[in-house]
Amino acid sequence: MSRRRTAAAGAVVAVALLAVAHPRPAVAAPDAATSVTCPAAPLPITAAQQDRSWSIAATQLAALSGPASLPFGATGSSAYLRTSAYAWTAGFYPASLWLMYEHTSDPAWLRLAAEYTQHVLPVASWHGTHDLGFMVGLPATLGARLDPSSQRTTAYASALRTAARSLSTRWNGRVHALRSSYYGGKWGVIIDSAMNAPMLIEVGQREGGIDGQRLVRRGTQHMVTLANSFVRADGSTRHRLAFNPRTGAVTGPIYGQGLSTASTWSRGQAWAINGFAQAFALTGDSRLLDAARRTADYWTSHVPAGCIPAWDLDVTDSAAPHDSSAAAITSDGLLTLARIETDAARSMTYRAYALATLGTLASSPWTVEDGRGVLQRQSYNVPADAREGTYSWGDAFLLHALAAAATLQP
Ligand code: GLY
Repeated sequence: MSRRRTAAAGAVVAVALLAVAHPRPAVAAPDAATSVTCPAAPLPITAAQQDRSWSIAATQLAALSGPASLPFGATGSSAYLRTSAYAWTAGFYPASLWLMYEHTSDPAWLRLAAEYTQHVLPVASWHGTHDLGFMVGLPATLGARLDPSSQRTTAYASALRTAARSLSTRWNGRVHALRSSYYGGKWGVIIDSAMNAPMLIEVGQREGGIDGQRLVRRGTQHMVTLANSFVRADGSTRHRLAFNPRTGAVTGPIYGQGLSTASTWSRGQAWAINGFAQAFALTGDSRLLDAARRTADYWTSHVPAGCIPAWDLDVTDSAAPHDSSAAAITSDGLLTLARIETDAARSMTYRAYALATLGTLASSPWTVEDGRGVLQRQSYNVPADAREGTYSWGDAFLLHALAAAATLQP
């Protein structure tokens, strides 16, 4: 595994892998500065690698079951932490359990998935967070699709309706957005919200009627506000912005988990790509396709296919912590985008890129037999703690991307 910024041998292979017509380069431009780690020869994920990843996931996820609390993750060599159902990460472990059940059809996974989803359903009526898409939306949507119990699927559908209404209470008609939080007292929105707003669209579309249409409108407009205010001209994203809630005007950036307010936090870019792709899949709105393409193209032109970036796309220090979770979230988003992309050449490029990156993520040292959790070398909040770790969101999006990859035609 070589540690190189650009012109890695792997990038050359990636060019061959991605040799389809595309209006933007799929590998790093010569002056790109993002620090990345690339395999010697990036190749699309193989069936054997997929089997190995699912088998490691089965061992690790089973080992985390037992207590009623929800697995969070471990930073460095510290203890593996667990949380109540009210942490922003609470939905990721139940989501991984549903994906295990979908992959294996084993009733033991169904029992666990239903049990852990049950823990998070009461959170749906909580108005104290904007992260209800992660916490309730993700596991309840998977449960509604996969659980054979009609009693439980009714409960999941009801929780989704409640969660969408709870999130909708944060709507501000001047900003045209759902408030993420008050950051230092400022009315603020975070790019991560791109992953929560699609729940409003999905629930609203299912419900229909005046109430349902309002949910769809709010979810869609929130995504359009992100596209207009957070996506820079070059396709990179801001992390947090403060708005004036009376006029709707942007009042300035707010520092979050990235290198600076002018940089591009890797996981923020990944949330944007994935969220815009989901929102376009739901709405067919060309403004969201444009945002998905621009954010995806920024990523692929800074991180060669098969490579794993540092925690911020403006980091140039090759010793800096990586964020493999950002690569997993991006791969998952690119597979969604590839499925719905209206341009066939772009679709092939995004798909090839995602499969090459999954080929790396499914290998050591990113996925290892003797680790804790499934996906290693993720970063949570580097400015607060620079150690890499293993976290439940990286696990869930790796499995989600593996499940999507398995549905592709050869
Ligand atoms: N939503 C917090 C994070 O991605 O770290």
